[in-house]
Amino acid sequence: MVQKTIAASAHSTSMPHRIPVAQHSQEPVLLSSVAESAPGLTRLKTGIGELDGILGGGLVPGSLLLLGGDPGIGKSTLMLQLAASLAQAGANVLYLSGEESASQIGMRASRLAVDGADRLHLLTETCFESVEQAVLQQNPDLLIVDSIQTVYVSALDAVPGSIAQVRESSAGFLRLAKSGTMTVILVGHVTKDGSLAGPRILEHMVDTVLYFEGDGNHTHRILRVVKNRFGSTNEIGLFQMRGDGLREVGDLSGYFLAGRSVDSPGTAVICTMEGTRPLLVEVQALVAPAGYGTAQRVSTGYDSRRLAIMLAILEKRLGLPLSSQDVFVSLAGGLRVYEPAADLGICLGIFSSLKDKVLDPGTVFVGEVGLSGELRSVSHLEVRLKEAAKLGFTRFVCPNVDLEEEIRPKGLEITCCDRLAQAVACAVSEKKGGA
Ligand code: TYD
Ligand code: MG
Repeated sequence: MVQKTIAASAHSTSMPHRIPVAQHSQEPVLLSSVAESAPGLTRLKTGIGELDGILGGGLVPGSLLLLGGDPGIGKSTLMLQLAASLAQAGANVLYLSGEESASQIGMRASRLAVDGADRLHLLTETCFESVEQAVLQQNPDLLIVDSIQTVYVSALDAVPGSIAQVRESSAGFLRLAKSGTMTVILVGHVTKDGSLAGPRILEHMVDTVLYFEGDGNHTHRILRVVKNRFGSTNEIGLFQMRGDGLREVGDLSGYFLAGRSVDSPGTAVICTMEGTRPLLVEVQALVAPAGYGTAQRVSTGYDSRRLAIMLAILEKRLGLPLSSQDVFVSLAGGLRVYEPAADLGICLGIFSSLKDKVLDPGTVFVGEVGLSGELRSVSHLEVRLKEAAKLGFTRFVCPNVDLEEEIRPKGLEITCCDRLAQAVACAVSEKKGGA
């Protein structure tokens, strides 16, 4: 009896799913035959420039995308604007919502003043099998699933939003997308720890992963590509959340530099890269005597371990007495910078605040600072130089590199330094001028 049960359970674990044998098995095809007529080349332009830009030109037919983000960040707003924009351009769009009723979506549409013409259909359904039926009937060019955590497959005995359900319904949408030319966008919520609620496995299944970031204190929202099978990653698109929906912000640097204080100590302008786009942003540092016990180091938007390294370098290599000082560093506009090219600007900001000396507001600082106080070269220097010149900066302090004459923008004085100490010396000693 015992043996029988074991045998039965062994049988059931070895065949947990009913995966049918494919009715039409696929034949091998020649790459040259598909490359010529590749449908992926005719991308679907979304009409939203910032989105098309980061996707590499538009949505690829037959692809599956994932849009992740915190609740309330504006995912549904972006999707409705995208759906309406594509419908206006002549595409058939099906917007599936498991979170809001059709009338709630209608209210949002009138607030956003968008019009889906007669090509944008809404469906408030959460059962995957019913959605599949509707998709086969409607045959849309784009299907938006808002959100994947609300969809369930009825054959599965698990609640919507559970790992099993999210995985299974996503696999269903993947099948639908890959069997034709319909593009599917899955919207997914992000948990507090930053991972997509439900499974991370979704990220492996889809072709493209987009994250919508921002916080309640600022109105800007950053759309970031973290995976893209059809274009480059780490690209960002910038939007502003307004009363009437999301607006594109084309001029990144202008947006983040707006309202900066040019005559206060502790501020320096850096040029960071977001994917292939240069972005000028103001670094702010405040150094004040530590009141009680251990000095505090607080960093917003810049890696706090890297800040500790920079403080040690400033103390050891430049002899600055920072161990008895509280140090606060932040990036204006709530931006986060991950690349080491921001190091030099951070160090200069701290130096400027400690010495109470204003840095030249027309100077941009770019460079990675090494442990021995040397400046290390950074990528995309030419693009950064151009951006600084475009925004009217007059001086660019960077590591020592061989720059050909033709890539030096006119009106921008380039000061190359080998060491942090040199950069500090030239930043505070020479002429002043405005950007
Ligand atoms: P929503 O798109 O519903 O977020 P998500 O789908 O990511 O949960 O956006 C909700 C927030 O956006 C809400 O706090 C109100 C704000 N909002 C605006 O500021 N302007 C608008 O035009 C809209 C539609 C929303
Ligand atoms: Mg939503």
